[in-house]
Amino acid sequence: MKKKLRLVVLLSGDGSIFEAIIAAIEAQRLNAEILMVISDNPNAYGLTRARLHNLNTQVINAKKYNDKNEFQRALKETLIDLNPDFIVLSGFMRILAADIIQAFPKRILNIHPALLPKYPGLHTHERVLAAGDKQHGTTVHFVDEGLDSGPIIAQRELTILPEDTAESLQQRVKELEKVLYPEVLQSLNTPPTLE
Ligand code: GAR
Repeated sequence: MKKKLRLVVLLSGDGSIFEAIIAAIEAQRLNAEILMVISDNPNAYGLTRARLHNLNTQVINAKKYNDKNEFQRALKETLIDLNPDFIVLSGFMRILAADIIQAFPKRILNIHPALLPKYPGLHTHERVLAAGDKQHGTTVHFVDEGLDSGPIIAQRELTILPEDTAESLQQRVKELEKVLYPEVLQSLNTPPTLE
């Protein structure tokens, strides 16, 4: 039997993609357990979603720290204590300090709403429309020290429709993400060992 992946989820907002990860676990499409859901934002709806599923939550409120380094130190200590197989960024809107990334090589994943390497950073849907692109989508990648620049694991594409707006693209991309992220996580599960 494959090992159950031990995950920690980091999120800042609504958490709809995270909810899809929970659904995949509950439907046994993803063999994983969520050790902790951490948010930098005490008002993130994703925390409510976690609590509704009886998952452990922790707020590391960036605004309560005197500077960014203190916040990052607290986050790093928490992550090291939890020692997950993978840290899953799911709408986490902060850049992790280099030493956190170095502490978890190829163990931090991010989902980004664009076909990387195009459109790293914010406002991807607006930028895709402004450029007149025909295709858009989402990318799951390992996090490295650059901005949305780590090794790509998988992507899903959609064709932009003439009537699309930034809002409609955001929703359509999220529908892809809800399928892609659980699938990628399951694909990271270790192969069965010979006994
Ligand atoms: C997702 O579309 C994800 O790709 C994006 O935030 C959204 C989170 O949605 N992530 C980033 O922009 C990371 N820079 P959710 O809060 O509804 O899960």
